[in-house]
Amino acid sequence: MNSFSYRDRQLYAENVRLADIAQQLGTPCYVYSRAALEDRFQAFADALKGRDHLVCYAVKANSNLAVLNLLARLGSGFDIVSGGELERVLAAGGDPAKVVFSGVGKTRDEMHRALAAGIYCFNVESEAELEVLNEIAGELGKPAPVALRVNPDVDPATHPYIATGLKQSKFGIDIAQAMTAFERARSLPHLRVTGIACHIGSQLTDLAPVVEALDRVLGLANTLLDKGFTLQHLDLGGGLGIRYNEEQPPSPDAYIRAILDRLASKGGHGRKLRLVFEPGRAIVGNTGLLLTRVLYLKHGSEKNFAVVDAAMNDLLRPALYEAWHDITPVAVDAPRKMLKYDVVGPVCESGDFLGHDRELGIEAGDLLAVVSAGAYGAVMSSNYNTRPRAPEVMVDGDRFQVVRRRETVAELFASESILPK
Ligand code: LLP
Repeated sequence: MNSFSYRDRQLYAENVRLADIAQQLGTPCYVYSRAALEDRFQAFADALKGRDHLVCYAVKANSNLAVLNLLARLGSGFDIVSGGELERVLAAGGDPAKVVFSGVGKTRDEMHRALAAGIYCFNVESEAELEVLNEIAGELGKPAPVALRVNPDVDPATHPYIATGLKQSKFGIDIAQAMTAFERARSLPHLRVTGIACHIGSQLTDLAPVVEALDRVLGLANTLLDKGFTLQHLDLGGGLGIRYNEEQPPSPDAYIRAILDRLASKGGHGRKLRLVFEPGRAIVGNTGLLLTRVLYLKHGSEKNFAVVDAAMNDLLRPALYEAWHDITPVAVDAPRKMLKYDVVGPVCESGDFLGHDRELGIEAGDLLAVVSAGAYGAVMSSNYNTRPRAPEVMVDGDRFQVVRRRETVAELFASESILPK
C-alpha cells in the first residue's frame, strides 16, 4: 500500500496535499500516514492469524506517542530498550503485559520500573544482567519473566552498523555459552525463564539468514525443553527490511510464511511455542517522509548543490550509514531543467547531506520529499547547530494533525545555566 502518491502533478499523503502541510506548518516537517501505518501492522497480524503470537513493535524506530497509540489500539505489543521508551508506551495507552524489554545495558531503576509495571518479558543479554535482575525481583517480591537473548552467529548481510547477530557483536549471549546461562537463570530464585530471544540485524532483505538463525534457536529450544525448561515463547526479533531504492525485501507475509513453514517441518516440539516478533522499520519505514524546502541552488565547477532546510540533525541516516532515501519534488507541474544535485543541509559538516547525485528539476523555493523516513528518522534527530527539531504530522484521510509541534529555540537552552559571577 502506498499512501503517498501524485495526483494532478502534486504529491499527496492520503488525501492531503503535502504543499498544504508545508504552507501551514513550515519546513522541515515529518509527515506520516495513518492508513499506511495501520496497513503495515495488519500485514504482520494477518500473516500470524490463527497462531499464538505477539507482535511487539520496536519503539526505537518511531516513538511518537500518536504512532504508539494507533498501534496499541490495533493490539500491538512493544519492544522497548529504555525506561524512557517504557514511559512512552504507557503514556500512549500500551499494555505493559505485551512489552518486551531488550538491550545490553538496562539499569537497576529501569528494571525496577518495568517489573513493577508488569511487562511480558525481559530479554536478558548477559549473565551479569541476570544476577542484577534477580536481586531487583527479590527486592520487589515479584518474579521476573526472562528470555535469554542468544547470539546465533549468522551473517545477516546488512550494513555492519546494524548487524547484531555475529560473534563479534556486543549483543546477546554467544549461543555456544547459552546453556550455562540458561542453567544459571533457572537456579536464580526470583527469575522465571519463559523464552529465548534473538535479533540478528536490521534492514534484512534475504530470508536465508533469518531461517538459519531460526534453526539455531530452535535447536537450543528443543534441548532446553528436553531438559525440563518450561519455555513459553520464541522471540525472533525484528529486522525485516523495506524498499528504499532497488532492494526487494520479502513482504511481511512471505517472511512470516518462511518462518512458519520451517517451524512446521523442522521445529520439533519447539514448534508449538508462542512466536514473538519485534518489527520496527517494516511497520513504520515507508509510512513517513520528511518534507523540506530548497533554500538555494549553488552551481560549482564540479558539482551542483541544492541547499535545503532539512539537515543531518533532522535525518541522520544518510550521513551515518550512507543510507539512500529517494528525494522527489512535491509539485511536478512546471517543466524544469534537469540537473544532478547533491542535496545538502545547512549544518556545518561535509557529511551533512540527504542525497548525492540526484537528478532533479528544481528551483529555489521548491518543496522536496525525502521518502521512506518513517523509521529511524525523527527519533534520531538532534539539536546539533541549535536547530529545533522538526514537527511531526499524522495524516488521516483528508485531515492532518500535528502530533509533535516544532521545538522553539528558547526550549533548546531552557535547561542550561551560566555560572554565577
Ligand atoms: N529488536 C531489537 C533487539 C533491535 O535491536 C532492533 C533494532 C529491532 C528489534 C528493530 O529492528 P527493525 O525491525 O527496525 O529492523 N538506526 C538504524 C537501525 C538500527 C536498528 C537497531 N535495532 C537505521 O537507521 O537503519
